[in-house]
Amino acid sequence: MKKNSINDIALFGGTPLFSEPLHVGRPNIGDRGRLLERMSDILDRRWLTNGGPYVEELENRIRILLGVKHCVAMCNATIALEIAIRALNLEGEVIIPSYTFIATAHALQWQEITPVFCDIDPATHNIDPTKIENLITPRTTGIMGVHVWGRACNIDALTTITKNNNLKLMFDAAHAFGCTHQGQMIGGFGDAEVFSFHATKFFNSFEGGAVTTDNDDLAKRIRGMRNFGFTGMDKVSHVGTNGKMSEISAAMGLTSLESMDEFIEANYKNYLSYSQHLSKIPGIRLIPFNPNERNNYQYVVMEIDRNAYGIDRDTLVKILHAENILARRYFYPGCHQMEPYRSYFPNAGLVLPETEKLTQKVLQLPTGTSVGEEEVNCISEFIQFINLNAKTVRGKYSQQKEDFRQNVPRS
Ligand SMILES: Cc1ncc(COP(=O)(O)O)c(C=O)c1O
Repeated sequence: MKKNSINDIALFGGTPLFSEPLHVGRPNIGDRGRLLERMSDILDRRWLTNGGPYVEELENRIRILLGVKHCVAMCNATIALEIAIRALNLEGEVIIPSYTFIATAHALQWQEITPVFCDIDPATHNIDPTKIENLITPRTTGIMGVHVWGRACNIDALTTITKNNNLKLMFDAAHAFGCTHQGQMIGGFGDAEVFSFHATKFFNSFEGGAVTTDNDDLAKRIRGMRNFGFTGMDKVSHVGTNGKMSEISAAMGLTSLESMDEFIEANYKNYLSYSQHLSKIPGIRLIPFNPNERNNYQYVVMEIDRNAYGIDRDTLVKILHAENILARRYFYPGCHQMEPYRSYFPNAGLVLPETEKLTQKVLQLPTGTSVGEEEVNCISEFIQFINLNAKTVRGKYSQQKEDFRQNVPRS
């Protein structure tokens, strides 16, 4: 860590700690040779998409890994969510957390289903089951839990609520590939679960996703919908879309699968180092992972108590970005604060107090295979340096804003 005084902070004119940006989800690349072999094979075969052998192999391997009956690979998780929602005949209203990526809500709204936002449990960042029953109306047809940061939401409680109220239960498991709940791999819970294999996820297929389910009929419907509703040559039996995964994506998925343990190991090491360093800093709390469950550790998530740390989250983000540490504020400001939901439900924040609080204090730090011990040490020491100099940093930052305000010509 090369900062000796606050004048060395890049936001105040110093040289950034890193010459290249460090990202939260810089893609992990597995064995390049194996990927290129597979790509070459695809080109030789000229079978680029439409249920080719690589997609089939990826689906089988995932099915076995997760111990689930069906895996249907898709072009991305958003389309996978949309198809699963439709195949489950969801309509009317579906209860979801607001603290999630916008795709969870959009996948419903796209089909004119109203996402009804439920608050979260601040201890887990996941949907709070005790707040769900109040939100159930005669129009409610289902609940979609989200396994935020790969930590399973309260599956048991959601299962009981959906059974008691005759609702469908699905999960947005976009974060949770390779994670367990009570020792069982996520993938087979509820009616269906949906994974994302987007480039920024620790396991990627460039773009991609999958629906997993133990339900034979549902899997059949999902496969049909993924392919325009075709159920035979020249035979279309229902409405469908194009959710197919390409062979090249499947090749990347298979290659990622072969390096999955290595990716998790790298993430875990980073997580442990961050925890060791950051636990000493007042006002910083890294979210813990249950040591009895498997997790992919793709997110290093910290909560900042602005009073104890001395700097608020948004100022810290600006300071970090100037150093080329591209920390993120997922899921700021919460789905209910984004359009069209903000206009539809202008008062939603009143019933989402925990979501509102969390979105103001959460931050994710760079990790993955392109980040190592040296970077983690440097980032952690810098976060500590800011805390130790919080008062002066605050003063200088306010002055800088004031100078900027005075220099900006007013219209
Ligand atoms: C919780 C959640 N749901 C859905 C998605 C959408 O995934 P995709 O980008 O594969 O469509 C994401 C992507 O980041 C996500 O984090």
